[in-house]
Amino acid sequence: MKFILASQNSHKLAEMQSILSAHGVEVVLQSEAGLHVEVEETGATFAENAMLKARAVMEASGLPAIADDSGVCVDALNGAPGVYSARYGGEGLDDVGRYKLLLENMRGAGSRTAHFTSAIACMFPNGDTIEAEGICPGTIAFAPQGDGGFGYDPVFFLPELRKTYAQLTPEEKAAVSHRGKALAVFDGKLRAYLEKQ
Ligand code: IMP
Repeated sequence: MKFILASQNSHKLAEMQSILSAHGVEVVLQSEAGLHVEVEETGATFAENAMLKARAVMEASGLPAIADDSGVCVDALNGAPGVYSARYGGEGLDDVGRYKLLLENMRGAGSRTAHFTSAIACMFPNGDTIEAEGICPGTIAFAPQGDGGFGYDPVFFLPELRKTYAQLTPEEKAAVSHRGKALAVFDGKLRAYLEKQ
């Protein structure tokens, strides 16, 4: 079974592919399928945005589409950056600029607790959908550590492992991460769906 991933993010592709390929699911970036669909993320929740992206790519390709919408929610910042994680600080910033801004905005914060959320949505050409969500609690580190992963990984600290996401191997990250958990739920729902077909 082949899904078009409604994203340009090759890191997300790698994380999704490594988990779903074990079950015979192939995921390809929309650009590899010759698609250039830009979706405005106007939803109020991760789940809404994930479904907006999956729908747009399914409609453009006529193929099953899968999307992940994710971000980090920081308690001391009332849940920010949240669904705006990719756009935090505006267009001019890159991943490093965004996590530096987050560290700056956390200066003097009484609590550093946070969580990452991943909402996965897929839509089939017949309109059927599958949704799954995963959450990983952690804290925002005082300084970046590690050079793996992407995005906010260097500043997302897992107290039990005493490491940031960026200090984990891809396998270690998948075992505990928001996306790993969401994909495990998704995988179960997809199998049940395919068995019914
Ligand atoms: P999206 O493409 O709209 O889902 O944007 C997600 C935002 O959250 C991007 O800025 C990513 O860098 C960040 N993000 C999502 N998942 C992760 C992750 O696993 N690690 C670090 N940052 C992430």
